[in-house]
Amino acid sequence: MAGGALGRDALGLRMNDPARFHREAVARLRAEVTGPAIVAASGGIDSTVAALLAQEALGDRSHAVFVDTGLLRAGEVERVRSHFQASSLRWELASAGPRFLSALAEVSDPEEKRRRIGHTFVRLFEEQASQRGASVLIQGTIAPDWIESGGALRDTIKTHHNVGGIPADAKLRIVEPLRDLYKDEVRVLARELHVPEADRQPFPGPGLAVRVTGALTPERIEICRQANAVVESEVEEAVRQGTLARPWQYFAVLLSTPTVGVLGDNRVHGQAVSVRIVESIDAMSATAQVVPPELLRRIAERITRELSGRVTRVLYDITDKPPATIEWE
Ligand code: XMP
Repeated sequence: MAGGALGRDALGLRMNDPARFHREAVARLRAEVTGPAIVAASGGIDSTVAALLAQEALGDRSHAVFVDTGLLRAGEVERVRSHFQASSLRWELASAGPRFLSALAEVSDPEEKRRRIGHTFVRLFEEQASQRGASVLIQGTIAPDWIESGGALRDTIKTHHNVGGIPADAKLRIVEPLRDLYKDEVRVLARELHVPEADRQPFPGPGLAVRVTGALTPERIEICRQANAVVESEVEEAVRQGTLARPWQYFAVLLSTPTVGVLGDNRVHGQAVSVRIVESIDAMSATAQVVPPELLRRIAERITRELSGRVTRVLYDITDKPPATIEWE
């Protein structure tokens, strides 16, 4: 699939021989990193693969850190714990929910949110690094992250938290073993490394912060989290029953326009949720998936019932990428 303004074929990148890429990536990491290193491990495929390569290359000098940003999906910490365990990855949890929330207080501009999240991650990794005498941060950055952060296009589409969100005065040297790969290539490598569920859906590093449009409050984050859990469970059930092809990504977005609803005999000024279900190969372009109407009806019924009085309207986003992007912010 061509990647918009800069087609991936133009970059000449391919994962033809994953075993060879694996060997060479480990050798490169050994050559590039001589002391201890922190690995930013979000639990997603990209950073899990990067962390496994780092662990193989550096042994005990590799310290994978998973940050609970307070912006995670329902059940994420447990899910990540079981994925890391199944991959035999050694890791540590850094709980930083209040820190991210205060960095984001009263920010509603999407780019500003992304910058602040990137900064907060880096400061936290710097502290982790100084405790371990490390001067290197290993990240699972892949090609679309830096391309869309303005690395190869005329304009910045989005500042990915792990690229443009890094402060200019960051003290750590950044090493990115997967930076030339696209997601489908990382998935091939993930299978080579026996990562479980290598085809699971991506979850952006900035988490629910870019799925709650406008200002963030603990209550709005929680509404988005609960609506998202409904979308995930209904889509996964439809996939299990064979009524839906496995989408690339499926999630809920909390909108910032209040909307009038009715609860019993009373008027409610509630919130609106948009459901996004897309097909893609590498996230450079995407198609809004045509899904069975019963699935959408069930999702709308459950979200408005489980968040009764708070969410009064559910929409389905039918826009492709381009012209939209996959995430709303
Ligand atoms: P967009 O919204 O740009 O998303 O079409 C493309 C893919 O990238 C994910 N995404 C991110 N992943 N840090 C990440 O790790 C980010 O800042 C970020 N922003 C978007 C998005 O979920 C989709 O899979």
